[in-house]
Amino acid sequence: MAIGIKVTQWYKNSGRDLPWRETKNPYLIWIAEVILQQTRIEQGIQYYYRFIERFPDVFSLSSAPLDDVLKQWEGLGYYSRARNLHAAAKTLAEELGGKFPTTHTELIRLKGIGPYTARAISSFAFGEATGVVDGNVLRVASRILGDHSPINEQKYRKNFQAAVDSWVQGVDPRAFNHGMMDLGSTVCTPTKPACMICPVEADCVARQEGLEAILPIKSKKLKRKVRFFNFYIYKNEQAEIAIQQRPLEGLWGGLWEIPNEEIPHPQWEKQEAGSEANFQFSFKHVFTHFDMMGNVFEASSPNHANSPSYTYISTDKIPIFAFSKAVLKIFHRLGIL
Ligand code: ADE
Repeated sequence: MAIGIKVTQWYKNSGRDLPWRETKNPYLIWIAEVILQQTRIEQGIQYYYRFIERFPDVFSLSSAPLDDVLKQWEGLGYYSRARNLHAAAKTLAEELGGKFPTTHTELIRLKGIGPYTARAISSFAFGEATGVVDGNVLRVASRILGDHSPINEQKYRKNFQAAVDSWVQGVDPRAFNHGMMDLGSTVCTPTKPACMICPVEADCVARQEGLEAILPIKSKKLKRKVRFFNFYIYKNEQAEIAIQQRPLEGLWGGLWEIPNEEIPHPQWEKQEAGSEANFQFSFKHVFTHFDMMGNVFEASSPNHANSPSYTYISTDKIPIFAFSKAVLKIFHRLGIL
């Protein structure tokens, strides 16, 4: 029996029930997939329900202010996802009459929709026979094929994609692709895979050759970059604090923050003692692309606080604005959120 049939049958008996699998609505599938790109399922489910309640269709999303979308996204990180969702919703609503393209080659033209998301939408919503290949599926494919090429290197993706594309031909693409994902997260796990209950054990080269613990191969990641920042709490006479909105382009675009600056490392290390500003604490925050080391100061001199870009808000208004996780962490540490 072919791999595609075995995976599809296994999914029908043993797959997971998840809210975005009950629908063929491309909008709902799109939102779920974008949320799940960097987020665990348990946390993702809560954001998914909140998001689709606030923005139930492409028109409510496209007509909402970006600030509202970012607010719904607060805490999920990687805010370009929310900005891209908003931009693509505008294209869909204003240029395509709210109708989603039905193939991955058309969907990929929309802002923020990459090869993975395009295939997830076309397959789950429209039944296109194309492989939906995420990290879990890459691991499953690498083991079935006994393929030693590093799964985290872009140049090998084509081969894995072609293999999964070949398995999905002639079977129900929704059940097959969901089945591959579930195999990856519940059976073909990174360590100690449960090969005895795997529907494709007999097809798996890694299993036959005893390579389950060796595959998949991943090439070594580069060392993480560390960047150093100062953050400032400026208070006016009403005890309101200064915040500012970041430009739309670039890191944390459109999010609010407290005044801050990036500091060269040696200088950052030395500044705690003897600074004119009042040092509060240091913190570390891990972002996707770098580790942030932050020092937080309460400014001693109101002269610092005259930048015209600042908005002063009382601390009980903090929940109204969308801040990055690092800034929320600072508010928590200071006890003002
Ligand atoms: N992770 C990303 N997309 C998913 C999906 N559709 N089901 C389960 N986990 C996922």
